[in-house]
Amino acid sequence: MESFLNASEEFERFLLDSKPTFKTFHPHYEKAFWEMLSSGGKRFRPKLLFAVVCAYDELMLPSSLHVALAIEVLHTYSLIHDDLPCMDDADTRRGVPTLHKTYDEVSAVLVGDALNTHAFYLLSNAALSDSVKIELIRELSLSGGGAGMVLGQALDCHFEESVLSIEQLEILHINKTAKLIAASLKMGGIIVGLEKPTLQKLEKLGLRAGLMFQINDDIIDATLSSKEAGKDTRNDGAKNSYVNLLGLEEAKKYRDMVKDEIEEMLEGFDCGFRENMLILLKRYFK
Ligand code: IPE
Ligand code: IPE
Ligand code: MG
Ligand code: MG
Ligand code: MG
Repeated sequence: MESFLNASEEFERFLLDSKPTFKTFHPHYEKAFWEMLSSGGKRFRPKLLFAVVCAYDELMLPSSLHVALAIEVLHTYSLIHDDLPCMDDADTRRGVPTLHKTYDEVSAVLVGDALNTHAFYLLSNAALSDSVKIELIRELSLSGGGAGMVLGQALDCHFEESVLSIEQLEILHINKTAKLIAASLKMGGIIVGLEKPTLQKLEKLGLRAGLMFQINDDIIDATLSSKEAGKDTRNDGAKNSYVNLLGLEEAKKYRDMVKDEIEEMLEGFDCGFRENMLILLKRYFK
């Protein structure tokens, strides 16, 4: 348990040390590149990966830092693009102005593009075997790409102003958020060499955790101030969100129901991993 919490501190140091330097005369490109990453965030996805690695093979922690950072880098790219005027048009993120507000839209689009590819550069540099790295690349590109997060964002934006069914909303949320969250657990499992059936169980658990995470995010939009959330809230007016489709109280009930389901699923895992996950759930879903 201690190593799991220490890993998060180690991760923050690693992230700051990993800021790339570019030889360029561009006035703000280099600063903008790492700005949203070093501005904070909950680091939920890296913590999920550490929850697995610490429980199953703590010795793999140092080599897992590159992988955790790769996931966080790809996630941060998705946030930078999500906030653009053509998507959610948000002014704040992680307690600071969004990149297109501080600089300009071109910088935000291009930093997002560059972070997307930088994630895979980081994976290529991890001290892991080539076959493990290929599996990790496969997971991250599938969950964070056209069959995952990007598809979810496309559904989210295309169906603004029209009402989806709850089944369609679940598909939307699973793609835009849950697949990357499930990949964070699964990639931890790949690093420590878990067998296929356990990887599949981790993925299933992660998809439910990701759905709960996005329902909770919809609730945050409706209930917290921008200052409390560190990002624009009351911004989902035109969106298909659980709060808009079910109402706030029903959305909360649904989130709590999925949380109970997750706790039940955790009964089927090793006690070390279950303990780490319960710490995370308690921290993020009070
Ligand atoms: C925000 O993600 C976007 C969603 C998928 C809900 P996070 O809530 O993990 O944002 P950070 O990383 O903490 O800033
Ligand atoms: C975004 O969902 C999910 C991503 C893939 C980035 P939201 O649009 O609800 O995220 P927030 O509320 O802006 O963080
Ligand atoms: Mg969005
Ligand atoms: Mg948004
Ligand atoms: Mg949201």
